[in-house]
Amino acid sequence: MITEERIACDYERTGHIQAASKAAHFDAFRDEQALLARVFDHRVELVSRADQRSEVGTEIYHGLLVDERSAALNPARYVEGLAPASNTLDALQTAFLETGGAQCGICTPGMLMAGRAYLDAGGGPDDDAIREAIAGNLCRCTGYTKIVEAIARAASQGSSQ
Ligand code: FES
Repeated sequence: MITEERIACDYERTGHIQAASKAAHFDAFRDEQALLARVFDHRVELVSRADQRSEVGTEIYHGLLVDERSAALNPARYVEGLAPASNTLDALQTAFLETGGAQCGICTPGMLMAGRAYLDAGGGPDDDAIREAIAGNLCRCTGYTKIVEAIARAASQGSSQ
């Protein structure tokens, strides 16, 4: 997103190391490693106390967690850059505005997410397929016609990303 929105925030892949000052911390690193892999498909390396001298030149810690892919950025510049990025609507959001697909707005986040998933999966401007894709999201205002029209319009514009 930083690249796509051209947010100038000094983003750089730097990597980082966490050192365990207690044995329990290294156990927590194991849990963190498993969680990162399972939830985010993000791999980190654990370095045992016996092997850590090559990384940090000491054996004072109870082991290390090495994340070679983590990154750093200037948080103030990042937040500053998010504001204009959040004012940019994609084709689906624009279609919702243009067709009146969003009225009271209660169902709109769910409809946009279902519509985006449908478009990203290659869905086209087929009313029945769109109605199936948004099933489970209840709308009390639009009668669904305008929502279906919005998603179909975005599909016709080749809005899958
Ligand atoms: S726009 Fe009001 S519930 Fe859908």
